[in-house]
Amino acid sequence: MKVENHSFSNYKEVAVTHLSLNLKADFDKKELQGTATLKIKNTAGAKQLILDHKTLKVDNVAVDNKDVQFEIGPLDSILGAALIIPITAETKEVSVAYHTLPESEALQWLSPEQTHDKKHPFLFSQSQAILARTWIPLQDCPAVRFIYDATIEVPPHLMAMMSAENPTAKRKDGKYTFKQTKPIPSYLMALAVGDVEFTSLGRNSGVYAEPGMLKKCVWELADMQGMIDSAEALYGPYVWGRYDVLVLPPSFPFGGMENPVLTFATPTIIAGDRSLVSLVAHELAHSWSGNLVTNETWSDFWLNEGFTVYFEQRIMEKIYGHDYAEMLAGIGRGELQHTLDDMMQEAPDDTKLFLNLDGRNPDDGVTDIAYEKGRFFLRRIEEVVGRSAWDAFLNDYFKTYTFKTMNTTKFVAYLNEKLLNKHPGKIDLDTWIYGTGLPKDAPVVNSKEWQRVKDAIALYTKSKNPTDIDTKGYTTHHWLFLLRGMPLLSVDEMAALDKTFSFTGIGNAEVACVWYTLSVKNGYDAAFPEMATFLKSVGRRKFLLPIYKNLVKTSKGKALAEQIFSEARKGYHAVAAGSIADIIREAQPK
Ligand code: BES
Ligand code: ZN
Repeated sequence: MKVENHSFSNYKEVAVTHLSLNLKADFDKKELQGTATLKIKNTAGAKQLILDHKTLKVDNVAVDNKDVQFEIGPLDSILGAALIIPITAETKEVSVAYHTLPESEALQWLSPEQTHDKKHPFLFSQSQAILARTWIPLQDCPAVRFIYDATIEVPPHLMAMMSAENPTAKRKDGKYTFKQTKPIPSYLMALAVGDVEFTSLGRNSGVYAEPGMLKKCVWELADMQGMIDSAEALYGPYVWGRYDVLVLPPSFPFGGMENPVLTFATPTIIAGDRSLVSLVAHELAHSWSGNLVTNETWSDFWLNEGFTVYFEQRIMEKIYGHDYAEMLAGIGRGELQHTLDDMMQEAPDDTKLFLNLDGRNPDDGVTDIAYEKGRFFLRRIEEVVGRSAWDAFLNDYFKTYTFKTMNTTKFVAYLNEKLLNKHPGKIDLDTWIYGTGLPKDAPVVNSKEWQRVKDAIALYTKSKNPTDIDTKGYTTHHWLFLLRGMPLLSVDEMAALDKTFSFTGIGNAEVACVWYTLSVKNGYDAAFPEMATFLKSVGRRKFLLPIYKNLVKTSKGKALAEQIFSEARKGYHAVAAGSIADIIREAQPK
């Protein structure tokens, strides 16, 4: 019997409290090989310890140093299988000897050509949501927290890094040791191995990147220490010691991942103008919302992401001012509207904050709803109670639930008790959390800049003359807002815009993604060769999906999508490749 949707583990009876990893990275075989030793707390006197595992070969299991017979449950394509280990009430420690398979979904093994400097191979993991089990046998659900230590052996010339205190220089023998003394959930287990170097950015912050791009990264992330200090001033002490960012090769499938102590980030934020650093504010904010107070199940994912987007905006506001932060919120509001327009037709139930993920991959819940509807819900509460009461509430919330899990029901009870009981009838929590769409009292974003861009779009829509668009002072965000707001255009109109603003082939991946999406929608074939290059060089899922999704709407486009995907696939991380394979398989081209 499963006690949680996405894990076979029996953690309510017996819980893992400590993990000791001892692994060797073999780049030729594309495998991690070694042991995971788990200390357990068997409060219920359970007779079995049930772990999650997937695409991972168990070689041997020992219980308190004695080999035992283990069992493997039936295989589920999403969850993997239960690893069932006999224990007694006295059992202290369970040790699993294992190796990963090349297809382990969390891990991406990159050839030198797939890195920035093209000299050495690279490995990184992505455990969220339920992929930790593809590289470590454990109780893979966010409700279980454990501390860990690790010894990782890698080839010489490479550095190993984890979601723990990290080395700042390479070790000749390739042996690295790690310690994470704060209890974390499994989805925050992380490992990266590559030819990287470190530069400090301040008191407790720094950046890791391949040597050939380190300088650019250091320049781009110069405000990071200020972000940490601002975040602490807002919502209490940063408890994780250091906050560093590792800038990964371009196939990293996400923008960022809040691995404790060491955020993993896409190189596409290194835009050369510091315009995309709000992503760092976001991942940093997770050091509170998510990593301190953790969603209990993936149905409560909005508690992680909605709080984090809200917190991210507050950090941005402190550093860059209200107008800039509000401009970014306007972008979020626009994205939310797009998402709602799509989803209210196809899957209205998924526009609820609290999600029903029965029998589904938690990946299905990763939409703008958790992020943006979540953020605007919290912003609505702020509007109702006022900023100072809301900030005091959040400070208490993070303190009270430090290293604990939170679910939606528990949050509502706490919110009512501590805050909303003083403001009866002001906000309809049920509609916000369990209702579809966006409630009528959703906060309105007021950004002067967006009015300016909207006016430019209106002018252009009438004249179709690109030089009518006054782009003085435009940032990445202005270009995004402009292109997202464009009406349907003819091929000639697209060509004229391209001639004036040189979009095709642009280096900024955010703008490139929106431009190529528009090119597909408007049948602007001239952009397709550069679009194909883009799709083959960037692995961030958020940039790939909109282009592939629009391509497969026509038979000609679908053929092109298939052709590009067949070449690009080997360069994509499993989570990105999986989503694109789904899009192509489910396509119904006209
Ligand atoms: N924790 C998420 C990434 C994630 C979520 C990975 C769910 C797997 C499953 C991370 O904090 C995140 O939200 N990243 C965003 C960037 C952010 C600025 C919105 C991304 O990767 O685009
Ligand atoms: Zn996030």
